[in-house]
Amino acid sequence: MKIGILGAGHIGKALARLLAEAGHDVGISNSRGPDTLRDLAAQLGHGVKAFSNEDAARFGELVIETVPFGNYADLPAVQLKNKIVIDTANYYPQRDGEIDLGGLSESAFMARHLPGARVVKAFNAIQAAHLETLGDTSKPLSERRAIPIASDDAEAKAVVQTLIEAIGFASVDNGDLEHSKNQQPGTPIYGAEVNAEQAREILEKQ
Ligand SMILES: NC(=O)c1ccc[n+]([C@@H]2O[C@H](COP(=O)([O-])OP(=O)(O)OC[C@H]3O[C@@H](n4cnc5c(N)ncnc54)[C@H](OP(=O)(O)O)[C@@H]3O)[C@@H](O)[C@H]2O)c1
Repeated sequence: MKIGILGAGHIGKALARLLAEAGHDVGISNSRGPDTLRDLAAQLGHGVKAFSNEDAARFGELVIETVPFGNYADLPAVQLKNKIVIDTANYYPQRDGEIDLGGLSESAFMARHLPGARVVKAFNAIQAAHLETLGDTSKPLSERRAIPIASDDAEAKAVVQTLIEAIGFASVDNGDLEHSKNQQPGTPIYGAEVNAEQAREILEKQ
C-alpha cells in the first residue's frame, strides 16, 4: 500500500521504518520541506521518498498524521479528503499552546478540521521507543503488545488493524473517536505494556 507520513519525528521515523520493512511504499514529510529530508528518508528504508505535506497526502492511499498537535492547522485538509488518516496526536498544552477542543477528544477535533477524512486514532498510546522495538510478527496475536484504535469508520479501522498486525503488534478496538479519550495520556491504557486481552479488560473498566 502507498502510505504517506506527515511528520518525521520520533513516531514518524519509527513508523516509516516499520512500514517500509513490511513492504509498503512510504512517502514522508516534515515542517521544512523535502530538500531537508532526503538523506533521512533514504536511511529509513528502501524507496522511502521525501515529500511536501501536500504531496505526501496525495501519495498515500492511507496517511499518518504525526506532527505536534498544536500544528494541526498546517495539515493539508484538501488532499486528505476521503483518505484513511491515522492520527497519532496527543495534546499537551505546555507544548502545543492553549487550544479549545470544545469538549471533543483530540481525534474528534482533528476530524472536524479534516472534513471527509476517515480518521482513525492509533499509535498515540505507545512510546516511540517501544514502537521501534516491541513489534514481533513471529508471535501469535494473543501474545503481542496491544495498540488501541478508535474510529467512527469501521472499514477504515479494519485497514488500520491489518497494518498494525503487519508490523508485529495486535490492535484493540476502543470504539469511536469520542472514546479515543480513553487512550489519551493519563488514562490506564496509555503506555501500558499489555496484550490484547489485558488491554480489553483495562478499556472495559473505563
Ligand atoms: N514521541 C512519542 O513517544 C509519542 C508517542 C505517542 C504519540 N506521540 C504524539 O505523536 C505526535 C508526534 O510526536 P513525535 O514525538 O514524533 O514528534 P517530534 O519528534 O517532535 O517530531 C515532530 C515532527 O513533525 C514535524 N512537523 C512539525 N510541524 C509540522 C508541519 N506543520 N508540517 C509537517 N511536519 C511538521 C517536524 O518537522 P521538522 O523535522 O521539520 O521539525 C518533526 O519531523 C505528537 O502529537 C505526539 O504527542 C508521540
